[in-house]
Amino acid sequence: MMYGISQLAYLVASALFIFALHWMNTPSTARKGVYAGVAGTAIAVVVTWADPAVIHHWWIVLAIVAGFVVGIPLAMVPLTAVPQRTALSHAFGGLAAGLVGTAEYYLWLLEGPEHLTTFRMVAIIAEIILGYLTFTGSLMAAGKLQEVKWVPQRPVTYPLQNLSNLSLFGVALALAVALTLHPTARWAPALFGAIIVLALLFGVLLIIPIGGADMPTVIAILNSYAGLSAVAMGFVLDNKLLITAGALDGSSGLILAIIMCKAMNRSFTNVLFGAFGQVRQAADEGGERKVYKSETVEGAAQVLEQASFVVIIPGYGMAVAQAQHKVRELYDQLKKRGITVKFAIHPVAGRMPGHMNVLLAEADIPYTDLVEMDEINPDMPQVDVALVVGANDVVNPAARTDKNSPIYGMPIIDADKARSVFAIKRSKNPGFAGIDNELYFADRTWMLFGDAKAVIGELVKQLAGGSGMH
Ligand code: TAP
Repeated sequence: MMYGISQLAYLVASALFIFALHWMNTPSTARKGVYAGVAGTAIAVVVTWADPAVIHHWWIVLAIVAGFVVGIPLAMVPLTAVPQRTALSHAFGGLAAGLVGTAEYYLWLLEGPEHLTTFRMVAIIAEIILGYLTFTGSLMAAGKLQEVKWVPQRPVTYPLQNLSNLSLFGVALALAVALTLHPTARWAPALFGAIIVLALLFGVLLIIPIGGADMPTVIAILNSYAGLSAVAMGFVLDNKLLITAGALDGSSGLILAIIMCKAMNRSFTNVLFGAFGQVRQAADEGGERKVYKSETVEGAAQVLEQASFVVIIPGYGMAVAQAQHKVRELYDQLKKRGITVKFAIHPVAGRMPGHMNVLLAEADIPYTDLVEMDEINPDMPQVDVALVVGANDVVNPAARTDKNSPIYGMPIIDADKARSVFAIKRSKNPGFAGIDNELYFADRTWMLFGDAKAVIGELVKQLAGGSGMH
């Protein structure tokens, strides 16, 4: 009876996880997706806890308290730090899988050799290798993204790197085969420990050759490793929900990594195997000095007032400045004048997938006015003003034309095709890819130097003041 109820509850939880992923597809249903995911997890925890086999309840209470103590501050980080926060979550997931696998092995070893079947050993070894390598790999990735001092930011490469990594993996596999064949031998626990050490080491070696630019994609891949280790854990514990949830996690992480690679025109295999991560190139200092044209806020406000079609292109700078609420006020001012205003959303604007959507949703901008890159690009030649708010690489025409550019081939928003462009940024510094942006020197582009929140605030003031004079 109890078994039937728990299996039914697991089925409901699995369905909720599937709906959660589906609802994440669009900003308008994303919130519902989060609630579905939370509900699924809550059901899974309660049902598992209610299992009569669970007898040490205080340990579970302690684990939940520990989870809250770590989880709540982690949830409070600013949006710009979400990629490294996500990496830390994967590190915990990987460690949990690794520790469960380790505990199960020693438990069954003590209970008797008949428990350690070949099937279980294969599952346990897959679980610990994936779990522990996700743990150290994710810690390294989080450190790189947070620019922690003791983690090298640049890709660390050395001769025969891939070969030595593969050999190490080969050694781990050989030990795994020996352990699977003789799980209860006198030397087996030592071998088990050696595999753990190799997996921990492998996680570090897998990440160090990859540069910061590929790190968010690597995080999606680590997500998928964490999912696969959960699948293995599901087989070890004979828990169907873990198998389903892990498979969903593993496949969605993989799909996300592929989407990100496409949007950035990166090779998926390079990101997967590392050692090819590009060192970011510094902006070319030589050659003629190009000139920026600056505009005043007053001038920009006048041009905006005359426009009938304005496209706002947000980027990482809008997130840094937390300018989304001011952007909303600007949107309201322009809409009040009957101007068509759309937001052009690049799939990798900012530092994580959906970064711009989340910020603009926070400012209650109607989802219908957020237009994806492929949809807005054909309209760009009809746009009177393209207002670039802290975006750089995602509007850099070098991606279309300059074969030597590190971002060559990355699809961009065609801001340069608009009739006029205003670009807000603080300085002449390059964006994420570390390269100059021709858009800023173009005839039809005017710079509005300053912090995005401050500049947009001034623009709003101008427009609000101006409207009183009509
Ligand atoms: P970036 O190329 O990083 O440019 C952001 C610009 O914002 C900078 O030029 C910076 O110039 C400006 N800025 C920073 N703080 C500002 C502030 N307070 N006020 C005004 N401007 C500010 O951003 P992007 O165009 O969004 O492109 C994203 C880049 O990140 C791409 O190269 C993409 O491949 C990469 N990336 C994205 C992701 C995902 S999934 N989104 C993952 C990994 C990598 P100043 O310093 O002069 O102000």
